Amino acid sequence: MTKKIIIINGPNLNFLGKRQPNIYGTQTLRDIETLCVEVCKRLNLSLSFRQSNSEGQLVDWIQEATQNFDAIIINPGAYSHTSLAMMDALIMAEMPIIEVHLSNIHAREEFRNTSYTGKVSTGMISGFGSLGYELALETVSRQLSK
Ligand code: DQA
Repeated sequence: MTKKIIIINGPNLNFLGKRQPNIYGTQTLRDIETLCVEVCKRLNLSLSFRQSNSEGQLVDWIQEATQNFDAIIINPGAYSHTSLAMMDALIMAEMPIIEVHLSNIHAREEFRNTSYTGKVSTGMISGFGSLGYELALETVSRQLSK
C-alpha cells in the first residue's frame, strides 16, 4: 500500500529564495515542493506538502498527521527553538518523524542550537539545504518498508 507522508514547513519558509539566500539558498519553497513531488513519485509515496506561519495551525496539522499519515517530515523554522506545543503534539505521533533544517543549526547562533521539536523526532537532517528534504523522504521510505 502507498504510504502517506506529510511535509510541514513552519514560519518564514514561504519567503525562501528571497530570505537570506547566503544561508538558505536561492530555491523557493515551490522549488522544494516540486523536488519532493518527484522523489515521492520515484519512491511510490503519497505527499501532502504544507507551510504555515501560525504555531496553532502547525499543531493542528501535526495532530491531523497522527490520524491520517504514516510519517512526518517537518521543518519547524524558528518554532524549533521555542515551541513546547509543537513538541507535545509530535510526542503523540507514533510514526517516523524527521526534522529537516536547510542550515546547520549547530553552526549558527547559540539560540538555534536547541531544538525542542528535534528532541522528540526520530532523527534530524540539518545543513544540506533542499537535499535534506530528499534524504528525509529516502529515510522514511526505508523505515516504512521495514
Ligand atoms: C531553519 C533554521 C531556523 O533556525 C530558522 O529560524 C528557520 C529556518 C532552517 O531550515 O535552517 O526559519 O529551520
